Amino acid sequence: MKETENLTPMMKQYWEAKRNLPPDVLLLFRLGDFFELFLEDAKEGAKILNLVLTQRQGVPMCGVPVENIEGYIGKLVKAGKRVAICDQMEQPKPGQLVKRQIVRIVSPGSNGYGSFLHPKEHQFCMGLFPWRNKLGISFIDITTGLFLAGQLDTDKEFFEMVVRYKPVEIIVPEGVDFPFIRRDAQGKEALEGPVQDCFIHRYFSWAFSYEEAQSFLVNHFKVSSLEGYGLGEMPAAVCSAGALLRYFGEELHQSLSHIVKILQIVPQHILWIDAIAQKTLEINHTQSKSGKSLFEAIDRTVTPGGGRLLRRWLSEPSNQLGVIEERQQAISFWLNNPNKRKELREILEKIGDLERLLSKVSQGYVNPRELSSIKESLRQLPVVKGLLSSLDEGLICRLCEDIALENELVEELEKALEENPPFSTKEGGIIKKGYCPALDELKEMSEQGKKWLIDFEQKEREKTGIKTLKIKYNQVFGYLIEVSHSQSKWVPQHYERRQTLANVERFITPELKEIELKILGSKNRAIELEQNLFEVLKEKIASRIPSIQKTMEAINKLDVLTSLADLAQERNYCKPTMVDEPVIEIEEGRHPIVEQCMASGDFVPNSTYLGPDQRILLITGPNMAGKSTYIRQVALLSLLAHTGSFIPAKKAKIGLLDRIFTRIGSNDDLAMGQSTFLVEMNETANILHNATSRSLVILDEVGRGTSTFDGLSLAWAIVEELYKTNRSLSLFATHYHELAKLADIYPEIKNYSMAVVESGGNVVFLRKVVKGSTDKSYGIQVAKLAGIPDRVIEKAKKILSMMESGQKKKSPSKKIKDSLDGPSLFPYLFDQEQ
Ligand SMILES: Nc1ncnc2c1ncn2[C@@H]1O[C@H](COP(=O)(O)OP(=O)(O)OP(=O)(O)O)[C@@H](O)[C@H]1O
Ligand SMILES: [Mg+2]
Repeated sequence: MKETENLTPMMKQYWEAKRNLPPDVLLLFRLGDFFELFLEDAKEGAKILNLVLTQRQGVPMCGVPVENIEGYIGKLVKAGKRVAICDQMEQPKPGQLVKRQIVRIVSPGSNGYGSFLHPKEHQFCMGLFPWRNKLGISFIDITTGLFLAGQLDTDKEFFEMVVRYKPVEIIVPEGVDFPFIRRDAQGKEALEGPVQDCFIHRYFSWAFSYEEAQSFLVNHFKVSSLEGYGLGEMPAAVCSAGALLRYFGEELHQSLSHIVKILQIVPQHILWIDAIAQKTLEINHTQSKSGKSLFEAIDRTVTPGGGRLLRRWLSEPSNQLGVIEERQQAISFWLNNPNKRKELREILEKIGDLERLLSKVSQGYVNPRELSSIKESLRQLPVVKGLLSSLDEGLICRLCEDIALENELVEELEKALEENPPFSTKEGGIIKKGYCPALDELKEMSEQGKKWLIDFEQKEREKTGIKTLKIKYNQVFGYLIEVSHSQSKWVPQHYERRQTLANVERFITPELKEIELKILGSKNRAIELEQNLFEVLKEKIASRIPSIQKTMEAINKLDVLTSLADLAQERNYCKPTMVDEPVIEIEEGRHPIVEQCMASGDFVPNSTYLGPDQRILLITGPNMAGKSTYIRQVALLSLLAHTGSFIPAKKAKIGLLDRIFTRIGSNDDLAMGQSTFLVEMNETANILHNATSRSLVILDEVGRGTSTFDGLSLAWAIVEELYKTNRSLSLFATHYHELAKLADIYPEIKNYSMAVVESGGNVVFLRKVVKGSTDKSYGIQVAKLAGIPDRVIEKAKKILSMMESGQKKKSPSKKIKDSLDGPSLFPYLFDQEQ
């Protein structure tokens, strides 16, 4: 490179590092106590980090202090950048170029150390690869070592997966087009649809080839084939997973030693919650600022790993009777043994986030304080195991077996680590006395040195007669004899002057330098030795990662099961009976989130029956009566039952479902160029195409986004289609009273309504679901309750009565009537002139 010929050696080193990076990666280059950005990187970084751009020899640059680096990396990554960290690999020596090396590249999916990492949330990076008619998907949470892979049939399932796992970054092969990835005017790629804050990165297409991907995985896991992980017949999954793991290892320079297995995602074993339903039911995240998600409402876990697992159970409810019932039995057991449960949870609380700490051990960023917290967590394992071993319950016994004690490691850590070690390894103070004789000797020498200094000071005072003579230490000159100006005339000849300050002068003597050499020499060697011992301890922990991870899987499950038992007791939940037939029978069910926002007893329970003889419920009732709450409640309770959790009801029987769909509220997507009504119809079309007789469909006021007649006609036809073709269990909340007539035609469609009583022109909501439809909306009364001015209310009442009395219904032409097959809406809407 010609331009680099005149560069300083340091800038040459910079270019050396920069040249090997993908072009979009910003390079943070360590210069002493700062990480610096140069040139174009500096201009971009200064803007994002709000830093002052400076120049050195015409080169634009800006820097951030080493100690705050994680915060700055976090901001750059949040802005969609990837950041390479080029660190100093040795102590600087005067006159020599320091060795520097790229130690890691941080991208949204690999930023495991920022403060914005949520303890109870996974941080996934997703891999994607299309293979014939399949879509291979994989997920890695590098901060915990969780690695998942599977393959999907359609793009729709892709969106469900994206909403489910909420990846922060997606890795796709170069040169392959995806219908759901679009490019903006600046050439930046983004995802269409429900998750937009997700970064897309292209990676070498060869890395996605089956041979490359398969051999990378096989080599990493040191196995002869991937059969054992259930991926033998899943080429698309293998391509995506192999490339994703390679991306972390080779492109981002991450250590992969804590990724010890790959779990298969089996779409057929999951109750699918349609992407829209996941968002509108607010399962793992809420859309409103003040509201609570289902996760927040039911989470009682006491460890971060337990919290993350509960989220996974919520986003991957099972449709396997065996899995659900096993969890139910364990929860029942904990409910019946409240004292043991309390005892266990108190122990679990002391177990920190071992999975994330282990990931830090693997990446090499763990500090002495964190090592000590690993030790504290591991110390709890024998206590947990001791408690569990006396219990006799299937799943709990198996989990107990999965817990390995790590006694040797704990013993070693106890012997080696100080009780409260510092965060940094710079100053020593990590290793206990008695662990390493050589270290103790060095420490003794440096202690001894301090005594020599005191003696030396005393001796010099006596010799010179200067009572205020002091020994001082300074980074540049080391140990010095300090004497005030007024006294300096008394200093002996052999004192060498080193520093003159405003009030004092400082000297050295050969004897002092000799002591210094001994003290500093032994101190530095002691620190170095401590650092080496610390590295060895880290390696010892690293070698136990697979075993500790397995233990943590059991601990996480125990946390979730006991927390669900706590919840069931605290909020009076019941165990639903799960059956393999299309039925939902709930006695006195409550909405798990709304109930918690109210004073105890204020929420009115409601029952539900859906089954072969009652497949569709049409729910009418005034505004504000509780229709939406009721139909969501049925969806949430069905979902919760599929996770194995108990549910807020007196009694329930829930049939295994294949999918839950919802069409609720306005999911306006104006930014994507879609109108409210178009979104509503898109979502409904999706339901009509995919819902089966084993699906639960929740429709809230479908059709209201257009004119009354259009909306009503659509609603009518949609219900008929659901009834005849999809045959799904459905709940439809509506203001179209005319739909009630459907129940007269089709025996398995039933009318229900929300009870209200009128008193003195006002309406009182009973929140009770009762049989039969209602034909009153009380919209004007609700408007009055909401504070619409009286004169507007009065005017509205007049207009309403005029419209009611003046409504002249017309009949459609005979031609239209004849073209309709079967019973239809029109005879009920218009006077029947035969
Ligand atoms: N079972 C219940 N017990 C107590 N309060 C309830 C119950 N159901 C609903 N509510 C309260 O009533 C409010 C209105 O409920 P919801 O939004 O479900 O009414 P709606 O019938 O769908 O109204 P709209 O027709 O305007 O959409 C809720 O915010 C909740 O506070
Ligand atoms: Mg509503």
